[in-house]
Amino acid sequence: MLTTIARIGQHVGQEVRLGCWLYNKRSSGKIQFLQLRDGSGFIQGVVVKAEVAEEVWENASQLTQESSLYITGSVRADDRAPSGYELTVTGVEIIQIAQEYPISLKEHGVDFLMDHRHLWLRSPRQRAVMAVRSEVIRAMYEFFHENGFVKVDPPILTPTSAEGTTNLFHTKYFDEDAYLSQSGQLYMEAAAMALGRVYSFGPTFRAEKSKTRRHLIEFWMIEPEMAFVDHEENLRIQEAFVSHVVQSVLKNCERELKTLERDTTKLQNVTGSFPRISYDDAIKLLQEKGSEIKWGDDFGAPDETMIADHFDKPVFITHYPTEIKAFYMKPHPERPEVVLCADMIAPEGYGEIIGGSQRIDDPELLEKRFAEHELSEEAYRWYMDLRKYGTVPHSGFGLGLERTIAWICGLDHVRETIPFPRMLNRLYP
Ligand code: 4AD
Ligand code: MG
Repeated sequence: MLTTIARIGQHVGQEVRLGCWLYNKRSSGKIQFLQLRDGSGFIQGVVVKAEVAEEVWENASQLTQESSLYITGSVRADDRAPSGYELTVTGVEIIQIAQEYPISLKEHGVDFLMDHRHLWLRSPRQRAVMAVRSEVIRAMYEFFHENGFVKVDPPILTPTSAEGTTNLFHTKYFDEDAYLSQSGQLYMEAAAMALGRVYSFGPTFRAEKSKTRRHLIEFWMIEPEMAFVDHEENLRIQEAFVSHVVQSVLKNCERELKTLERDTTKLQNVTGSFPRISYDDAIKLLQEKGSEIKWGDDFGAPDETMIADHFDKPVFITHYPTEIKAFYMKPHPERPEVVLCADMIAPEGYGEIIGGSQRIDDPELLEKRFAEHELSEEAYRWYMDLRKYGTVPHSGFGLGLERTIAWICGLDHVRETIPFPRMLNRLYP
């Protein structure tokens, strides 16, 4: 029976068989050290010429980088080995001797690696990032499941915009115009009125002409929406949620974070409540630091970093000007020039990972906003219905998966956090 490298610890002292690829090889003439990978992990197989059949030695000698094989061997615990175990090889069954592999073990440029993303994914670092991504998703679902949320799937083809019309991806829907979803929020508001607390997780499309290390054209967003939850409670749920995700990765991806050489001390204190700073105070803080920013301006990436550097945890920037935020955000009851919203800014320069707000529940105000934002009332009639038939205070937020992973993994760029990134100049592979 086959086992996997991840499970090899259960077989110490036994003979096992693995399906794997050769990652690297060293040879001393009498011993071959095979670095093997099977997707679940990496392990070294030791082939001793004097101890194996000639055919086994010959097969091992032929293996090139990324050749596929079945290997048989006995498992030894070895504290010096990165995986903690080593395999004393007794059999090598070749599946295929790979052609010369384009990604050699030397350094390559990013464009080259991106052109070979389908192969680059096999590298230890990329494997580690994908494993963290999987754990983040698992922990997110766990959090919502444990807190009584229902998963709801909003559509991807939509007739209208949710976040403004500047970055919509247009497509034809037979004779009609349609857009790829830029947020499931409006549909999640309908779902919250039906199911109370809901969340969605899916791809999101924004035709943003931004070429930064934080922007993807296609990214994944988790969007909870909660009936009877106000702005303050929304923030408490967000900090509990993000803490749960970070602590789960620390607990379950120790090996991967080590591969990524992540300084985990910075993640350990992501628990409890997060600091809050109002937009007004954030503007003052930036001005004190010599920035020319004025009240009413939106923050750029350097501004966010400067603010985040003040704190050792993610920070909420609250109450942005109504003018620069989406049409659906509820104004502050005493200060209508600001809205009941918050962006969560990750530490260490990773920028905004969450955007959220309390939503307008008053039908008249919502109608006024449609007019101000020149949105067709006809197109949003169904959304208006949510305010006509038992409107309630409600709030929600959207967390960008890739930015969150870039932060947790300590990566320079979001392109490594998604298997096949779609970027301004990249649709291949
Ligand atoms: O702040 P945004 O635009 O908020 C919304 O879409 C709301 N409708 C969410 C809600 O309340 N349900 O996007 C939310 C998050 C951002 O904080 C960021 O993490 C991520 O989505 N994001 C992107 N990530 C990668 N590439 C892009 N181009 C992104 N645009 C937004
Ligand atoms: Mg935002």
